[in-house]
Amino acid sequence: MDQVEYIHQCSGEGVDTWNSAMLLYGAALKELETKISILNEEFQNTHQYNPIEYVKSRVKSPESIIKKLKRYGYEDSMENMVTYCNDIAGLRIVCSFTSDIYRMADMIGRQNDITVISIKDYIRSPKDSGYKSYHMLVTVPIFLSDKVVDTKVEIQIRTIAMDFWASLEHKIYYKFEGNAPDYISKDLRECSGIVSMLDAKMLSLNEAIAEAKREDEKKDI
Ligand code: GTP
Ligand code: MG
Repeated sequence: MDQVEYIHQCSGEGVDTWNSAMLLYGAALKELETKISILNEEFQNTHQYNPIEYVKSRVKSPESIIKKLKRYGYEDSMENMVTYCNDIAGLRIVCSFTSDIYRMADMIGRQNDITVISIKDYIRSPKDSGYKSYHMLVTVPIFLSDKVVDTKVEIQIRTIAMDFWASLEHKIYYKFEGNAPDYISKDLRECSGIVSMLDAKMLSLNEAIAEAKREDEKKDI
């Protein structure tokens, strides 16, 4: 069942229903974190390197959920929350290289029990701010004692450089409450271009190193 049906089966809009709804998000993050760490280990085993630098997860605070529903113009009911707030469970995967992002996204998308609801590729089409990241909205089945609930998680996949840019931009955005002076926004967009350049350079450097290693191994034979 989906989360709306689940909410309807719970008794009312009280704290018990709230706790049951939140339990699902925490469980969905645990499921995904395990899946991703398995993929990382398998990758390490077959390709001798980790595509993932680090993974972070968080459940959105009640204040932020209510603020978001208000911003979207919805009443703060639990049904609206599970329907319209897609990032209550958020998982961020930070990869070494841009190519790892697509590899990771592909591996996640191919898992039978994960349903991909939508994808936003802000790497191929960055936001006006300069923001770059690969977003997947997925559902993961959570097995409760007497039902299975497909639970939404927003996955953001980016490189370390993209993550560095996004966290700095986020701080600046908050400092100016969304109205940063033009020269700052312009500098941030410029930095976003530098991030792309750095990512491209690092990737080609990594490929050159891998190639040199292969040549060395050939000589040994
Ligand atoms: P939100 O209502 O902000 O969640 O946007 P959305 O539902 O249209 O989804 P979108 O994929 O655009 O953004 C989801 C999340 O990506 C945000 O909550 C942020 O964590 C991140 N994000 C999106 N745009 C920016 C940006 O310009 N700068 C930074 N630092 N983060 C961003
Ligand atoms: Mg968000």
